[in-house]
Amino acid sequence: MKKIISVCMGDGVGPEVVNEGVKVLKIISDYTEFNFEFKDAPAGGEVWKKIGTNLPEKSFETIQNSDALLFGALGLPDLPPGVAESAIMKIRQGLDLYVNLRPVKLYDVLREKCPLKDEFIGNGIDITFVRENTEGLYKNVGNLKEDSAQNLMLYTRNGCERIIKFAFEFAKRKGHKIVTSVDKANLLNTSKLWRKIFHEMSGNYSNIETEDIFIDAFTQWLIRAPYRFQTVVTGNMFGDIISDEGAFLIGSLGMGSSGNIHPGKVSMYEPIHGSAPDIAGKGIANPIGTILSVKLMLQESFNSLEIGNEVDKAVEEALNEGRTVDIKSAKLKTLSTEEMGDLIAEKLKSSLKK
Ligand code: IPM
Ligand code: MG
Repeated sequence: MKKIISVCMGDGVGPEVVNEGVKVLKIISDYTEFNFEFKDAPAGGEVWKKIGTNLPEKSFETIQNSDALLFGALGLPDLPPGVAESAIMKIRQGLDLYVNLRPVKLYDVLREKCPLKDEFIGNGIDITFVRENTEGLYKNVGNLKEDSAQNLMLYTRNGCERIIKFAFEFAKRKGHKIVTSVDKANLLNTSKLWRKIFHEMSGNYSNIETEDIFIDAFTQWLIRAPYRFQTVVTGNMFGDIISDEGAFLIGSLGMGSSGNIHPGKVSMYEPIHGSAPDIAGKGIANPIGTILSVKLMLQESFNSLEIGNEVDKAVEEALNEGRTVDIKSAKLKTLSTEEMGDLIAEKLKSSLKK
């Protein structure tokens, strides 16, 4: 099965972690029925410095004509905030990637790396945030004047329906028992519409329980009882914030993966960490966020739950043997980015060979 994967290395640690993601994809290409071809789609701060745009037209075309995009991270410390990063918005809006899927899973072997006390971890953390990814405050409607500034938080019925439906379908697929909706319906009109649609939609999924939690309370519950959440659906800005909070629970930001998805269309997979200029070029960044984004690509874009699960298993096995410095253990070897990728690739290769 031939698939074209566009690859954007990005800035900072982007190229270092993306190389490891590509390494894993190449193993899959070698040992399964998939046949991947890679196409470069440069974007970000380095590109901006060279040619004055953070997303060259040619890159966007390459992305549009691919089956999926593997994306590094954008941002450079010597550029004003947003100059590089806005390329991500152009891709999300340009491809109408309305789902931002962000799993927050604490591997058992990393339990001691979770900053929460054991009693709060309970029987484990395995949450998937389903964040609306094209509407709300991210519509870029507003202005910035000398004495005032404005951003419009705009949600449409169609925008709410499609993301909430995705969340229920996702929960159904994963066998989740409950979908939690996070909003601010005690204040915001947008949340009132959201909540109404959430309740309407829940009628189609009678086997799945639902609950509504206000965003402020949710930020507490996420550290007080994270074990009780499974699928959590929310708007764009709230999703941005709580997914970072969630990522802190899994040992390292470097473990966080994500998919920017339009089901059935070209979608983009990226680690949730940024370009981390402070450690760029040192070869110490954790590539697992990127490798788990590859897992999401397999499951969400290429319909291959099985190989995705193999990637997951390979990551877990590797974590028992060696780790990058952000999740290091005195008992295990501390690995470079490349060594971590090699170890995972090796584990994956031996399970795929069977
Ligand atoms: C994310 C990031 C982006 C966002 C930034 C870089 C604009 O924080 O992917 O969560 O806010 O969506
Ligand atoms: Mg964010």
